[in-house]
Amino acid sequence: MAEYDIAVIGGDGIGPEVTAEAMKVVDAAAEVYGFRLNKTEYPFGSEHYLKTEEIFPDAAFEECKQKNAVYLGAIGDPRLPVGLIEYGIIAKMRFELDLYINLRPIQLYDARLCPLKDKGPEDVDMVIVRENTEDAYSGMHGFAHKGQEHEVATQTMVYTRHGVERAVRYAFDLARERDKNKTVTLIDKANAVRAQDIWTRVFEIVAADYPDIKTEHAYIDAACMWMVKNPEWFDVAVTPNLFGDIITDLGAMVQGGMGIAASGNIHPGRVSLFEPIHGSAPKHAGKNVASPVAAILAGSMMLDYLGEKTAAKAIEQVVRDLFTSQRLKGVGTGVHGTTEVGEMVTNELRATAPSA
Ligand code: IPM
Ligand code: MG
Repeated sequence: MAEYDIAVIGGDGIGPEVTAEAMKVVDAAAEVYGFRLNKTEYPFGSEHYLKTEEIFPDAAFEECKQKNAVYLGAIGDPRLPVGLIEYGIIAKMRFELDLYINLRPIQLYDARLCPLKDKGPEDVDMVIVRENTEDAYSGMHGFAHKGQEHEVATQTMVYTRHGVERAVRYAFDLARERDKNKTVTLIDKANAVRAQDIWTRVFEIVAADYPDIKTEHAYIDAACMWMVKNPEWFDVAVTPNLFGDIITDLGAMVQGGMGIAASGNIHPGRVSLFEPIHGSAPKHAGKNVASPVAAILAGSMMLDYLGEKTAAKAIEQVVRDLFTSQRLKGVGTGVHGTTEVGEMVTNELRATAPSA
């Protein structure tokens, strides 16, 4: 029986609650589809930091490196300095594990979930490939004359040939694999951010290796407009880190809200990190009101990455069916209880299993 070692970090706010439901679902999938998940839980997050001043100790990080995947609920807490815990946990894993792809599928399961008029599941079905280690996230920033009237602040947008090329190639491979328009759209702002000319050039070079894949281009501002006006135009889109961060929140709304959007931080062939896109929503923590759907779908993405494709698809199909049959009414806060949704998905997964 296949076995996988998983590190689980529930994190802050609603993170631990939605993670618990996602873990119930992946465990049920493991049972039904015949594989094993050996989970190690870690307490890291803001609460742990406030108690111990520990963010992500080296020993635990080394352990995570030995796992097949890491699952993260959510982190962030308004009591801590901006970015401290995000950099210490999420960014640390993204950079030090070299998770160069942030894979963010935008898939509408039921027309009722979509805030756009006259758009249905066939119109909203795309994947954003967000480059995940460079751009304004590289950490190269500085202040001069801090606190003075003539203070200067800079942050460098960094693009390397290596970093751009591997993200672009991933997008082309994905477009080939997917059964849609066989199209990759490059989203950038090369008309204003001149350094992004490297994206224009590398995209063209890589495209030459994929004559079967069509190419499109949109500037980020226009891409935001198209995402709302004509989401059906997108199949796979590839974009630098910062634009990818922003447009995937827009995409999350188009597919039904932050309660539904999942992501994978991936280095193909290596330990990778899976998380819902939403944050820790501290005000909803501990009330059993946050939807775990995004967390559950992040679990499905994790299983897909581990090679358990049938189980991954089954989870996605169950979620889709629960929406279309209206048993799941939505992902808004309090529409369903957190544990109620976890149980619903788990029960349905068992009920629809091939041997059931
Ligand atoms: C995301 C988040 C992170 C990011 C934050 C928490 C640093 O918004 O994963 O989209 O900006 O990448
Ligand atoms: Mg974000």
